[in-house]
Amino acid sequence: MMRPMSSESKDPKLSSNFTMDRNLALEVVRVTEAAALAAAKEIGRGDEKKADAAAVDAMRAAFNSLYMRGRIVIGEGERDEAPMLYIGEEVGLGRGPEIDIALDPLEGTTITANGGQNALAVVAMADKGGFLNAPDTYMDKIAVGPGIDPDILDLDAPIEQTLAKLAREKNMDIQDLMVCILDRPRHEALINNVRKAGARITLIQDGDVSAVISLTDPDKGIDMYVGSGGAPEGVLAAAALKCTGGAMLGRLTFRNDTERARAERWGITDFDKIYDLNGLAPSDNVMFAATGVTDGTMLRGVRRFAKGAKTHSIVMRSTSGTIREIEATHNFKRKTGFYGGEH
Ligand code: FBP
Repeated sequence: MMRPMSSESKDPKLSSNFTMDRNLALEVVRVTEAAALAAAKEIGRGDEKKADAAAVDAMRAAFNSLYMRGRIVIGEGERDEAPMLYIGEEVGLGRGPEIDIALDPLEGTTITANGGQNALAVVAMADKGGFLNAPDTYMDKIAVGPGIDPDILDLDAPIEQTLAKLAREKNMDIQDLMVCILDRPRHEALINNVRKAGARITLIQDGDVSAVISLTDPDKGIDMYVGSGGAPEGVLAAAALKCTGGAMLGRLTFRNDTERARAERWGITDFDKIYDLNGLAPSDNVMFAATGVTDGTMLRGVRRFAKGAKTHSIVMRSTSGTIREIEATHNFKRKTGFYGGEH
């Protein structure tokens, strides 16, 4: 492991966050690996809470080995409802760069409990102030992959119009477009309108972070993600798009005054604001890491074997645009602590 440079060094390349965050981008994958390995022990056991708790415990322990002063801005909830990885919690060794963290130790708790597809352990990091402090409400989202004019996106325009623009941008027939939507009753009208416009739909049960990331890889065959999902997941997805390119709009939606009050506590006063990628993840220095828990469109899930396991992760940085896929083989006979001690 490379050690971070002393902040007293006179060489700006060696002393600034430049060096530290390159290292952190690689280190943070240990955090998502730890959470994925822990959650994977609960695949298909029908207990969402247990799966989530296992991922949270492992992720928190792994964070505390990182050289940074991390503050969670998107986490497991507010302090009174989440004992660990709550919003405002400080993680890391307490030395090093000040980092804001958005995380979801287990994106897809139901997926994991049912042994379904696309469950991930996810972390995004940025300089201080690098993420929208999105409360745990819903968010209307629309996103496309890289190379598309962001101006075609509009949360209020009829979806038929936006799909027609997307088809033109991609030089495709509207009939060939594939739109990804969460399978929820609240999306009935949206689904009907997409069908009327002539586009195809892939309905997903859960896991819209994975769906948005899939937009960045033409091989996955998804042209647009649209619909209402979790606001924290919206920020995590935006962090990934910030690294890979792509465009997204998000608007927080509130079911009651309690949710509005919660948003106000985190500094949100304009409840109708539409955020683009730079509003959701304002920093130019964003890192994103995810490890597959169950098999999915982007990542393979954890593979267990005697006294060990394999993980598949993706790590990206916005400053360099580098996307790394990391396959790791973990030997539980040698690893102890948050990785493998009790496996
Ligand atoms: P969890 O990991 O909390 O189970 O979230 C899964 C998820 O499908 C997200 O990907 C999505 O944004 C959100 O839930 C949708 O919320 P809801 O299930 O309430 O429609």
